[in-house]
Amino acid sequence: MSAPVVLITGGAAGIGLAIAARALARGAKVWLWDRDADALHAARTVWGGDVRTAEVDLADPDAILRAETRLAELPPTHLVNNAGILGQPMALDAMQADEIQRVLAINVTGTLLASAAFLRARAAHPQAAIVNMSSIAGTNGGAPGHAVYGASKAALLALTSAMARDLAPGIRVNALAPGIIDTEIQKSVFASRAALEATAQGIPLGRLGTPDEVAEAAEWLLFAAAYVTGETMRVGGGRK
Ligand SMILES: NC(=O)c1ccc[n+]([C@@H]2O[C@H](COP(=O)([O-])OP(=O)(O)OC[C@H]3O[C@@H](n4cnc5c(N)ncnc54)[C@H](O)[C@@H]3O)[C@@H](O)[C@H]2O)c1
Repeated sequence: MSAPVVLITGGAAGIGLAIAARALARGAKVWLWDRDADALHAARTVWGGDVRTAEVDLADPDAILRAETRLAELPPTHLVNNAGILGQPMALDAMQADEIQRVLAINVTGTLLASAAFLRARAAHPQAAIVNMSSIAGTNGGAPGHAVYGASKAALLALTSAMARDLAPGIRVNALAPGIIDTEIQKSVFASRAALEATAQGIPLGRLGTPDEVAEAAEWLLFAAAYVTGETMRVGGGRK
C-alpha cells in the first residue's frame, strides 16, 4: 500500500500541527495549507521534504484553487479540514454582518471549497479518509458571545453526515469535537491564564486538553477505524 499523503488545512500551528507530527511519525507525507507563511516555513525547516506547504487563506476561493493546482505535485489521499477561527465576541442583539461572514467564510465555506479541491485532486487510497474539525460548540452552542462559531461548527456536523453518505464506500468521513484545548485560539476566549485554569476546574477530567490528545483521535479516525464513518468523536475530557 502506498504511503498516505495527508492534506491538513490550518496545519501550521496548534491541533493541525500536532496531527501533522503524528502523520509524519507513521511514515505519511503531509501537505499543510495555512495563511501563516512564517509558521509554514518553520514546519518545512523542522520536517524537510516530507512536508509540502502552500500559503492559503481559506476565506479566499481563488487562493484555494491556486493551491489545488499544486496538489498535482503530490496528490493527497487523506484530508483534515482543521482551519477555523473563533471570531470576535458578539451579543445576540448586536450581530455584525461582516464578522458573521468572516467566520462562516473560513469555517464553513472554506471547508466546503477545500473538500471540493481535495476530491478533484486526490489519489485513491484503500484507507482514504476525511476528518472535519468541529467542536463541542457545535452541539452546546459555544461560549457566551460566540454563537456564530457554534453555528459554524454545527454546520460541520451536518456536512460530515452528508459527506460520509455521499463519499461511501471509498472515503470514510468523521468529525472530531474537541473541548477546551490549550492552543492560541483559547487565549482570545479567556481574559487571563487564571480564568482559563478556573474553567478547567469545571471539566470532568480537571484540565485542558493538549493538541496531541486531539491528534491521537485524528490519527485513529484517519488511519484505523475501518468500520467507522459519519460519526462525531468528542475529545473534551468529559465536557459536553
Ligand atoms: N483549541 C480549542 O480549544 C478547540 C476546541 C474545539 C475545536 N477547535 C478547532 O480546532 C481547529 C484548530 O484550532 P487550534 O486550536 O489549533 O487553533 P490555532 O489558532 O492554534 O491554529 C489554527 C491554525 O489555522 C490557521 N488559520 C486560521 N485561519 C485560517 C485561514 N483563513 N486560512 C488558512 N489558515 C488559517 C492559523 O494560521 C493556524 O495555523 C479549529 O477549527 C478550531 O475551531 C479548537
